[in-house]
Amino acid sequence: MGDFSQFITKTPSTIPDKGTFSCTSPSNIALVKYWGKRPIQLPENPSISFTLDVCKTETTLHFEKLNHPTDDFQFELFFEGKPKPDFKPKIQSFFERIETYVPFLKHFKFIIETKNTFPHSSGIASSASGMSALAYCLMHLEKGINGSMTDEEFVNKASFLSRLGSGSASRSVEGPITVWGNHNEVPGSSDAYAIKFPYSIHENFTNYQDTILLVDKGEKQVSSSVGHDLMHGHPFAAKRFEQANSNVSKLKNILISGDLDMFIEVVESEALTLHAMMMTSLPYFILMKPNTLSVIHKIWEYRKDTGSKICFTLDAGANVHVLYPHSEKDTVMEFIKSELVVYCQKGQYICDKIGLGAKLL
Ligand code: PMV
Repeated sequence: MGDFSQFITKTPSTIPDKGTFSCTSPSNIALVKYWGKRPIQLPENPSISFTLDVCKTETTLHFEKLNHPTDDFQFELFFEGKPKPDFKPKIQSFFERIETYVPFLKHFKFIIETKNTFPHSSGIASSASGMSALAYCLMHLEKGINGSMTDEEFVNKASFLSRLGSGSASRSVEGPITVWGNHNEVPGSSDAYAIKFPYSIHENFTNYQDTILLVDKGEKQVSSSVGHDLMHGHPFAAKRFEQANSNVSKLKNILISGDLDMFIEVVESEALTLHAMMMTSLPYFILMKPNTLSVIHKIWEYRKDTGSKICFTLDAGANVHVLYPHSEKDTVMEFIKSELVVYCQKGQYICDKIGLGAKLL
């Protein structure tokens, strides 16, 4: 399980009476995918992602000190201004998991107000941005109580707590590129939290674009936690984890050298491998839709015809993330509008790009 005692804070003697923190935290898109975990929320392989900019959650945490600490967590939750009872169990189990590390939770009553910049039913995972936004607010509360924390301790613990909410959330705290999971060629990398990519990134990746095509906005038939579980006893698991490690090595060099052809190869292969793992699980399942495949073929055709450095990646769903350099923004947007939007549900897509992580408002 690992020794995470560095993240345990003592219950402080002075606790603020009341206050509010508002934070935003973005979603992220994995380039090398995390798929498969062991308790509690530790990855079977390292992953690398682009932090996004536009798709984010904004969370306001109001806290008020209780006269006496209680036996259970006291919180109310509002999503887009309305009470949201169906989100409460997730927050309850998040609080249970982080209580050892944030021991003052039961000293407060919390009101959590949250909203996303993207439509909730877009099929875009809100757990990464939502969990990291809440963790980031809680860290500001902790910093107010324990002022001696360094900036590095702050972001590492924010990522550590986010991870306990949702694995991929650990990668949303910082940007523009983060690595989560121990890898022997990435100094400082850890299974417990994500770190900022520790090398200078080639200018080819500056302002890298991600247009998210909303191919299917419905609820996924298989949740990512079920998918992760199916990697236990999966016939290709060991090879897959080995491959992800080798792809992190490759991508590290690509991000430094700026080799976009190699970038395309690693990123598309990772996306298809993720879905291949789903198709070869027992029970097997498919999250891509016919339009997902149509989009992929169109992207390949366009790349062949024009020499563009456009490529795609997928998360655990049918939507397609179209990735391309900033220098191709106008031409690729023309292509997306004329050839790809027809495959999107209600013609919807989101123009996003690489971003910098969580912020205090
Ligand atoms: O954080 P989770 O448990 O929702 O898992 C995310 C898994 C993928 O999005 C498919 C891959 C990744 O690395 O983000």
